[in-house]
Amino acid sequence: MSDKDATETIDATAAGIARAAEILRAGGLVAVPTETVYGLAARADSDAAVERIYEAKGRPSFNPLIVHVGSIEQARELAHFSEIEEAVAGAAWPGALTLVVRRRADAPLAAAVSAGLETVALRQPDHPVMQALIEACGFPLAAPSANRSNAISPTTAAHVIETLDGRIDLVLDGGPSGKGLESSILAIRHDGAQKGVWEELRPGPVDLDMLHQHFFDGPMERSAASGKIEAPGQLARHYSPGKPVRLNAHQAAQGEFLIGFGSIGGDCSLSPAGDLGQAAARLYSSLHEAAHSGCPRIAVAPVPEEGIGKAINDRLRRAAA
Ligand code: TXA
Ligand code: MG
Repeated sequence: MSDKDATETIDATAAGIARAAEILRAGGLVAVPTETVYGLAARADSDAAVERIYEAKGRPSFNPLIVHVGSIEQARELAHFSEIEEAVAGAAWPGALTLVVRRRADAPLAAAVSAGLETVALRQPDHPVMQALIEACGFPLAAPSANRSNAISPTTAAHVIETLDGRIDLVLDGGPSGKGLESSILAIRHDGAQKGVWEELRPGPVDLDMLHQHFFDGPMERSAASGKIEAPGQLARHYSPGKPVRLNAHQAAQGEFLIGFGSIGGDCSLSPAGDLGQAAARLYSSLHEAAHSGCPRIAVAPVPEEGIGKAINDRLRRAAA
């Protein structure tokens, strides 16, 4: 397609999913709803298709993608799972957990998917549309969040169109994403430590401390920060609404659009009742709304650093950086 054509949005009905699968089979790009955020999908086994993801997003080629699978069996064809990785996948999948595992040498994956690393990031999503699409395709789908690089992640089909209109082949509209934040990313290192050393590469909807406690009786060990960029998407400047953002605001200063939480009202609220799950689901919509408001600056009320609040604050700090 040429850049000038508008991208079509269709409902994620059975017919819509069949059409999306056809486009993907031919090497095209389709934005798809998942329970976390909308993903920009391409067939993960095609160099040309994966290359188009990087092009459409304007994503640097050193930043690897998440590969979405329909089952743990499909995941095993792509990577070597240790015993503990098997157990973790068994407990958290399908769901908002991405596991960074050792890529098989003969994995049917485009090289660019893991940007030259020996590992690959895998996730089995818990969303009926994404699941039906992977099944219809028969191959795994590479899918980063469906936004231009550094822009706010999309939780609706309309958000996708805001930054990718004319750059992708189709948007499947499945309504707003339920969780609203990108998956948690976990890498387990096995060097020496018998049960592995867990490293949280990105906080998200699955609380990794709680998951760790489920398997081990004790606090989570974290490998020392190596200084090496492990999850390059975790660079400080990310999720940018394109305006200055001030955090922990109790009221709006002049010219600020205030995003409230709990007892702090505002121009909109993450959750008037102070519910963190609702706040996560509304975070990106609120940032989109603030970005489109006439106000030159954005302020956000304090959000407690507990449960999914940790992931909300992670994204807010990056939006403010
Ligand atoms: O919820 C999600 O994870 C969404 C939906 C669509 O599944 N996807 C998503 O993808 O957030 P993306 O590309 O925006 O973020 C992928 C993150 C990046 O920070 C990237 O650096 C990291 O995963 N990543 C991918 N492969 C990796 C690897 N082999 N090692 C370490 N980090 C990796
Ligand atoms: Mg992203």
